[in-house]
Amino acid sequence: MFTDEISFNQRTIARLLDSSPATVNRIVTTKMISATQETDSGKIKKYNLENTRKIAELILKNQRPKINNKINVFYNFKGGTGKTSLCYQVACHLAILGYNVLAIDLDPQGHLSSALRVPEDVNYYTMYDVLINGADINEAILRVFPGLDLVPANISMTRIEVPLSSKTKREEKLKLLLEPLKNKYDFILVDTNPTISTLNLNALVAADRVNVVCETQPFSLSGLRVLVEEMLQFYNEMHVQPNFGIIANKYESKTAISQEVLGALRTEYKDNVMETVVRKCEDINISAKKKIPIFAFANKHSIAIEDIFDLVKEIVKHASLSLSYKKEEIDI
Ligand SMILES: Nc1ncnc2c1ncn2[C@@H]1O[C@H](COP(=O)(O)OP(=O)(O)OP(=O)(O)O)[C@@H](O)[C@H]1O
Ligand SMILES: [Mg+2]
Repeated sequence: MFTDEISFNQRTIARLLDSSPATVNRIVTTKMISATQETDSGKIKKYNLENTRKIAELILKNQRPKINNKINVFYNFKGGTGKTSLCYQVACHLAILGYNVLAIDLDPQGHLSSALRVPEDVNYYTMYDVLINGADINEAILRVFPGLDLVPANISMTRIEVPLSSKTKREEKLKLLLEPLKNKYDFILVDTNPTISTLNLNALVAADRVNVVCETQPFSLSGLRVLVEEMLQFYNEMHVQPNFGIIANKYESKTAISQEVLGALRTEYKDNVMETVVRKCEDINISAKKKIPIFAFANKHSIAIEDIFDLVKEIVKHASLSLSYKKEEIDI
């Protein structure tokens, strides 16, 4: 769905890969990776997504950690905290780095699908067809660009709750479906909808790690307390060991309330708060409107680029940790 409108020069690729322009230049020259766009003078060469992934593969091949916690769920039952925005940026970024990523949209609003340019007027399979009608999940997977696949969502998913709730082992359905896909993907990122629903409980059971996306706004903390309490209680009932991190989003360093909320989060949830704080930045809004990931258009000094880069690194770090416990079999 993306075309060559997303392409990167060598300097940007170096930044994406935490490498140097000289290394990128050496790789493209020695491995004869051709530019997909060139200025008239030939001075600036750009590489499309596919070739950027090839360059990433060559530069990072020995540095990539083994990914143990593949299924990452972006979660909060409060609306508008930034679940979709962060899921979108992280998914695109991981794919550019050369990982094979599957994004799953579990929100009938379909915002992730829309950001990934799924046309609204085409009739695609969604998780409704897979979970309720027994469609093959592979038939619901769309290719967004090399390295990034998507199971889209649309408004038809609003009808999923009643039939899903009446199924046996109703909270385990998604986990069972995703298990075989772990052979094919390095990361499976799930965007949830802002409700307490059986569908979201499926996401929690399937998750190897839950990223709770929380705003640093007044009242965020009280909502978060309820959320964490309910989530831990649910995991306890399901005999599943929780693995979650809280991402503080829309942080405004100049406002006292943001600082206060972040301070309280760190005091209360300690190591469960991710080190990366995503600051409020207009580029995240622009990215959603343009339907282009942030690193493909924003100014190199953009704080959002900086924060998303850090977030991706931290998510990869947590994904590569081996769990010190074994998830027990769920017995309902
Ligand atoms: N760090 C940020 N800086 C500025 N704007 C942001 C940031 N994160 C998210 N936003 C904006 O906040 C709004 C809500 O974000 P988003 O849609 O990602 O939230 P959500 O949690 O997925 O919402 P919903 O619960 O409705 O699914 C969007 O307009 C988005 O562009
Ligand atoms: Mg959303």
